[in-house]
Amino acid sequence: MQIVMTAGTRYSFVVSVLVSLAAACGSATAQDFPPDVTRGKAVYERHCLTCHGRGGWGDGPDAAAFTVPPANFHRFKSFLKSDEELLRTIEHGIVFSPMHSWQGQLTETERQDVLAYIRLLVQQGR
Ligand code: HEC
Repeated sequence: MQIVMTAGTRYSFVVSVLVSLAAACGSATAQDFPPDVTRGKAVYERHCLTCHGRGGWGDGPDAAAFTVPPANFHRFKSFLKSDEELLRTIEHGIVFSPMHSWQGQLTETERQDVLAYIRLLVQQGR
């Protein structure tokens, strides 16, 4: 059998390749646009600052009250972790620690925005 590529079949082949490419890109990242650090800052200041501190050093006003100290995002231990790993922690929390799950309180986009803001804080230093 011989496959004859008419203009019509070629066109539908190109369209199906484009559609599957778009689908692959869409599933690689949860959001189609880069995280918004301005929104991330607002989320951080509202929900995270009391424990993790304004600069992310783990020295927020509530930090002293906990036996498990809030993570200092500037330590190698934290900033070498992948985005996926930190997002998982924000999503699910850490057992036996004051770091509870934020699933339900923050949307997936807000969790990504706040992580982008944490990454920015770490770049800034003291
Ligand atoms: C009540 C205090 C508290 C609040 C509020 C809080 N955290 Fe935490 N967080 C902690 C503690 C404590 C740990 C460290 C737990 C441990 O080391 O076992 C932690 C750990 C983390 C980690 C993991 C760091 C690592 O190195 O693995 C991330 C990421 C994080 N917090 C993000 C956030 C974000 C984002 C918010 C705000 C939406 C937030 N936290 C709010 C107490 C808090």
